[in-house]
Amino acid sequence: MDHNPAPGLNDDGQGVVQFTDFMTMLDAPPRALGRGRAEAGEKVFNDIGCSSCHLPTLKSGRSDIPALRNRPFHPYSDFLLHDMGSLGDGIVQGDAKAAKFVLRRCGVCA
Ligand code: HEC
Repeated sequence: MDHNPAPGLNDDGQGVVQFTDFMTMLDAPPRALGRGRAEAGEKVFNDIGCSSCHLPTLKSGRSDIPALRNRPFHPYSDFLLHDMGSLGDGIVQGDAKAAKFVLRRCGVCA
């Protein structure tokens, strides 16, 4: 009480709502394509099979917000569970057995 000038509930949650709205509407950074080296790298990425799991482009679905509806985005992921064989870490999490990982995103590309 001595150190809190406004005892009681100080946060009505509006800040969290506003931050969520901000993050929802924030556009992805521009892709580096069109600058030669990035396109060459993307070609290698596709040619050696990385893009069979790391799908470069997906499309958003239905949304009440027109700007978010059916928009292409570039997650470099299929968001599926993959058996990674010898890369397995032995950790079991739900349906993900010892050698399986969920592909969430590419930390390098996304
Ligand atoms: C069989 C599907 C599959 C293929 C093919 C594949 N990956 Fe992955 N990749 C994954 C999965 C699943 C993960 C997540 C592993 C984890 O959670 O630790 C991953 C993770 C990664 C990550 C780390 C992402 C992060 O956020 O930490 C990089 C980088 C990556 N892959 C690059 C590549 C490259 C480059 C290739 C091609 C040589 C490739 N991957 C081919 C499934 C695949």
